[in-house]
Amino acid sequence: MQNGFMSETAAFGFRKVAVEEKQGMVDDVFHSVAKRYDLMNDLMSGGMHRVWKSAFVSMLAPPKNSETWSLVDVAGGTGDIAFRVAERSRGKAAITVADINASMLEVGRERAEKRGFGAIQFREANAEELPFADGSFDAYTIAFGIRNVPRIDKALSEAFRVLKRGGRFLCLEFSQVDVPMLDRVYEAYSFRAIPEIGRRVTGDAESYRYLVESIRTFPNQENFAGMIREAGFSRVTYRNMTGGVAAVHSGWKL
Ligand SMILES: C[S@@+](CC[C@H](N)C(=O)[O-])C[C@H]1O[C@@H](n2cnc3c(N)ncnc32)[C@H](O)[C@@H]1O
Repeated sequence: MQNGFMSETAAFGFRKVAVEEKQGMVDDVFHSVAKRYDLMNDLMSGGMHRVWKSAFVSMLAPPKNSETWSLVDVAGGTGDIAFRVAERSRGKAAITVADINASMLEVGRERAEKRGFGAIQFREANAEELPFADGSFDAYTIAFGIRNVPRIDKALSEAFRVLKRGGRFLCLEFSQVDVPMLDRVYEAYSFRAIPEIGRRVTGDAESYRYLVESIRTFPNQENFAGMIREAGFSRVTYRNMTGGVAAVHSGWKL
């Protein structure tokens, strides 16, 4: 409570909700879409999410010959980042996928088994309160996850806490388009087409409306970089992808 009457608020798409309410609403979205999540990503982004995720993992550059390097992929959902890291590290990285949503994790576990990534750990966990000791990991990744977390500042300080000194924070998230014309095309596409694709494929337009709206309410590249610095990270930089449709933010715990 801020003044005895009003709760702290968070954006749930374009709506303001009490911060305590947001997580439950986000969880409903991902329980609803989990089974069709991967298919929908391909349909909505025309396969672009694969390109962004592969570039993201290239930036992370997991070592190929280390038996000790460890990663936690927070809001890791159905495992896309974890699988790419497992491939690039030739199966050597110790990878934990942490996500708050059991339905997303279940799909992730099934996919991991089918693809021979049985060594990846899947843990139900809240990004705001990670069940890991201080200094546990060499790298922390979060892809298209942080805008769903009600208290982003808490998630960022947890990221800082669970990283070892010298550890890397890397975040892939939708961001602010900075190319004239592309912004208009993208705006029209997101608000008209995406909820409609969601309705046809999953019968749930509302969840996809939330996903689109949540992109617009997330801080822009510079403001988000400021929040990462605020959490204690050093050498914070970002790189736009596809004219800022997505951006990768990087920081180090030094
Ligand atoms: C858009 S999906 C991204 C999944 C995956 N990282 C990817 O790129 O395909 C967002 C994920 O964030 C998870 N999530 C939302 N709030 C969370 C929280 N507080 N802690 C951990 N995970 C959360 C959701 O359950 C969902 O799996």
